[in-house]
Parts: sequence; structure tokens; C-alpha cells
Amino acid sequence: MQKVLISASSLPAGRNMSSQLEYVQRVGSYGADIYHIDVMDGTYTKFKTIDYGYIDQLRVNSALLFEAHLMVNEPDKVIDKYLKTSLSLIYVHIEVLDDDGIKKIIHKIKKAKKMVGLVVDLDTDIKKVEPYLDFIDAVLIMTVKAGKGGQTFNEKALNKIKYIRKINKDILIEVDGGIIPETGAKCVKAGADILVSGNYIYKNDTYEAIQSLRGKNG
Ligand code: DX5
Ligand code: ZN
Repeated sequence: MQKVLISASSLPAGRNMSSQLEYVQRVGSYGADIYHIDVMDGTYTKFKTIDYGYIDQLRVNSALLFEAHLMVNEPDKVIDKYLKTSLSLIYVHIEVLDDDGIKKIIHKIKKAKKMVGLVVDLDTDIKKVEPYLDFIDAVLIMTVKAGKGGQTFNEKALNKIKYIRKINKDILIEVDGGIIPETGAKCVKAGADILVSGNYIYKNDTYEAIQSLRGKNG
């Protein structure tokens, strides 16, 4: 079985650059694979977080791959800023753009030689992402409603993972929200490749915590 990748969410480390720097290095030393930059601008979600301005300084101090989860209502207005950073993968919510907008932003991100993914929020029909699967690298399936950390995993996301995995064997499937070893194992069994974790890693704060998220597939 393929190794499960662990993506540590930037959210618990707050908006202060020095705490972000310290956190990215710490989760790196614990063996995380990816740093998941959660971006909220207070439009799609209630809260505000760090944004593109933090990415390169964090990246030069870390050996992790960086991805961004853009929880913003108008990603087309800010995408250029993110394309200039050292991100490897950029996720945009499927809910905030029409068909034309989705196609355009996928094209733009690919043209900048970055990986592109679409996020399907908890209450969104997974079938909405189907027409784009051949043009994207990854699907991020929310296992809570996007917007804040520390929420409880919602089991209804498991069928969405299975659905995507059944129709596409190769696409990367990432899950985000309420991931602990038990819920992570269910997602991996359903077909997920990458587990995002915020609170679980932050609160446990050990190498073992990250290994326990990988479970049997470490
Ligand atoms: C929330 C963010 C998540 C969040 C996960 O909407 O997208 O990445 O930080 O945090 P936990 O693991 O605490 O649910
Ligand atoms: Zn996220």
C-alpha cells in the first residue's frame, strides 16, 4: 500500500510570523510531509488567517512541500499573488466560481507549473467536481464545514472519497477536518492519499502523533 502523506495545517500557529516559523520547523522535525497553508480572508469564512505574504519566508526555512487551501470568495482576484510564491499545489473551492471561472483558474494554475486541486465543502454534492477530474491533480474533500479548526469529523465525507476513488484511480484525494488516527484510518481505507491535520498535531505536539496518523501505512 502507498504511504499516506501527512499535511500539517498552518491554522493552529496563528497569524504571527515567528510562531509560524517555529511551527513549520517543528512539524517538519516530526516528519510531516506537507505544510497546508489555510487561507481565510473573512469572505467565504468568518475568520481571517495568514495569506500569500507569509509563504516564501516559511518555505525557505522548511524542507516540506507547501500547499494552499484558499477559502476565499474571489480566488480569481488573488491567484496571481499565490502563483508568484513557492507553493507546489493550490486548492480552490468549487463553490465560489462558475464553470467558466473554474476552467480559467485551473488553466492559469497549470500554466504557472503548479499542481491544482478543487475543494469540495462538506455540504456540496461530490458530483460537481466530476467534470474537472481529468484536468486537475487533486481533490480536497472537506470532512467538516470549511472555516475553523477543531471541529468534529463528519462520516458523510467517506462516501465522497469512495465515489471519487471508484471513478478515478490516479487522482490525489486529500481530506481536511477533524482528522485523528481513527478518522484518518477510515479515510485512507475509503481511498484518501493525504490527511490534513490541525488540532491533533498541534495539541499532541510529538513525532509519535504524526506517525499515529499514518497508521499501518507509515
Ligand atoms: C478548516 C481548515 C482545516 C483545519 C483543520 O476549515 O481548512 O485545514 O485547520 O483543523 P482540524 O484538524 O483541527 O480540524
Ligand atoms: Zn484546510
